[in-house]
Amino acid sequence: MSRLKELRKYVDAELNKMEDTDKRTSAIAHLYGVSLAATMIAKKRGLDPEIAAMAAMLHDLHAYKTGSYDDHAHKGAELAGEILRELKLTDEAETEMICSAIYHHDDKLVTDGPLDEALKDADVMDHCLKDASKAVKEKEQARFDKLCAEFGMIDT
Ligand SMILES: [Fe+2]
Ligand SMILES: [Fe+2]
Repeated sequence: MSRLKELRKYVDAELNKMEDTDKRTSAIAHLYGVSLAATMIAKKRGLDPEIAAMAAMLHDLHAYKTGSYDDHAHKGAELAGEILRELKLTDEAETEMICSAIYHHDDKLVTDGPLDEALKDADVMDHCLKDASKAVKEKEQARFDKLCAEFGMIDT
């Protein structure tokens, strides 16, 4: 089984504990949507697509487990570290890269390292493309504009 598949098995089991079925459905859709976008962005930018997808699968898990978005990026990075060290799917450098991406993923207005940026952009891509009829949020507009240019998409 691939590392990504193994991690997804763990994340799926955690998400299946969510009692609210609507919230559970959107949590699953979001983590898998961001994971697909992260893979695409990583491949386009020469980053490791598996590590990007693994970061995406874990990035909002703390919020889903606790029902709170309060400081969820920083707390989520800590949780991701615990999970990855328990599952032993990654080496320490990979774990740190994933945790850093999750730690920074809510800082959409600043620029961090390449994998950090890939996760932020993947999050924005999922938010903006899961329903293209919805208005893009102000804090995501600049990033979405850049993504449209990078991927040759027309923002209609
Ligand atoms: Fe988030
Ligand atoms: Fe997210």
